[in-house]
Amino acid sequence: MAFDTIIRNGSVVTATDTYTADIAIANGKIAAIGTELASSGAGQNAAKILDASGKLVLPGGIDVHTHLDMPFGGTTSADDFETGTRAAAFGGTTTLIDFAIQYKGQPLRQAFDTWMSKATSKATCDYAFHCIMTDVSGGQLAEMNDLVREGVTSFKLFMAYPGVFMLDDGSIFKALQTTAKNGGLVCMHAENGSAIDVIVQQALAEGKKAPKYHALTRPTTAEAEAVGRAIALAEMAGAPIYIVHLSCNDALEKVREARDRGLPVYAETCPQYLYLSIENFDAPGFEGAKYVFTPPLREKWHQEKLWNGLNRDHLQVVSTDHCPFCFKEQKELGRDDFTKIPNGGPGIEHRMSLIYSGGVAKGRFTTNRFVELVSTTPAKLFGLYPRKGTIAVGSDADLVIFDPRRKHKISAKTHHMRVDYSMFEGIEVTGMPDVVLSRGRVVVDGDKFLGRAGQGEFLRRATYAQVNG
Ligand code: URP
Ligand code: ZN
Ligand code: ZN
Repeated sequence: MAFDTIIRNGSVVTATDTYTADIAIANGKIAAIGTELASSGAGQNAAKILDASGKLVLPGGIDVHTHLDMPFGGTTSADDFETGTRAAAFGGTTTLIDFAIQYKGQPLRQAFDTWMSKATSKATCDYAFHCIMTDVSGGQLAEMNDLVREGVTSFKLFMAYPGVFMLDDGSIFKALQTTAKNGGLVCMHAENGSAIDVIVQQALAEGKKAPKYHALTRPTTAEAEAVGRAIALAEMAGAPIYIVHLSCNDALEKVREARDRGLPVYAETCPQYLYLSIENFDAPGFEGAKYVFTPPLREKWHQEKLWNGLNRDHLQVVSTDHCPFCFKEQKELGRDDFTKIPNGGPGIEHRMSLIYSGGVAKGRFTTNRFVELVSTTPAKLFGLYPRKGTIAVGSDADLVIFDPRRKHKISAKTHHMRVDYSMFEGIEVTGMPDVVLSRGRVVVDGDKFLGRAGQGEFLRRATYAQVNG
């Protein structure tokens, strides 16, 4: 067989194994894994050789929680599908799952069509969609089955943002009953939005309008209560459930207890909850607005609990919740009132390095567990496995040649996200991608981007039940 590319002598890491091998690529897929694979046969063109000696070869990262080109609070997230996927690739992420939003009164199909048109000509790496459902009063429950057939097999529901995104418990329960039947997966934004709204209104009435009150009006108990309620609703419906952007120990305990009972309950956390804390709101002036997202940053002690949760499999995935808004002009919208600050922060580029650095380089967990958290489990839960999320013959050649020793200081001056600040400014990570391949093509080589807008393909995903059932 003629190979297009061979990655030689890397330390190949999957969720289960680490071994030295060559990886041969043909037609965008992994064609062979072995030692001393021949780079050409009689009459064949020589394959391009990439030397990975001394480096790790990882399956491309999968970020299952991004918001590109997303309208929010009178503005739109700053990265579109071109700049966002480009920044993702620089960080070793080769697949992302973004959220198509169904607004009240709309069919789900409209959300899917709208987000497809945002992504198709722009994405530089492969992408898929979850569908955010904000209204199930029409034919949307039946429509969930249509979307599942088209490869949109997960649905995000909100227990927060009353009047905007929030669904009542009855609607949530009906959606869970639907996924119990069609094999899909509900992703839950779990915060008690009604109670939070009361606390927010009381704070505003007391003149508490600075960015830090965004965090102080969203207590950990509001998150834990909603996580517990979401799990109970899923258990009653006989459905699996995935908690998004889990931020604190109280909520983690609810997930751990449910998993100890054997329930199909899963949760992700994000690098911001592992590296940042409520102390970031001590930044001068209005700078705290850079850290306004939901759930909010917590006291520092939660961080180690979350790292421990990742190690012990109480948490299964690290995503970014990348939802960038520029400090100037966008975060500014809430200068006089924290409720008007667009919620979200940038993170798509540094997830792999932050989790490798804090997880593996700091000795908290193994390289195999790292791969499981950032690639393999995301692929399994969201119906992309084994096409994505592993290194195996027949899988897509989404691969990262990763230097486990290279150090890098994160800064808005050097990042590739289209946003004017970094949440992780000044943090030094150990471990950086050198070369990134998307379906066999080199898209990042050091500081050069070699990908192209429109190169990314929409991924029709299998259901949670098909891969995990
Ligand atoms: O503040 C956040 N997280 N913004 C993005 C929307 C969401 O809830 O994930
Ligand atoms: Zn959310
Ligand atoms: Zn989000």
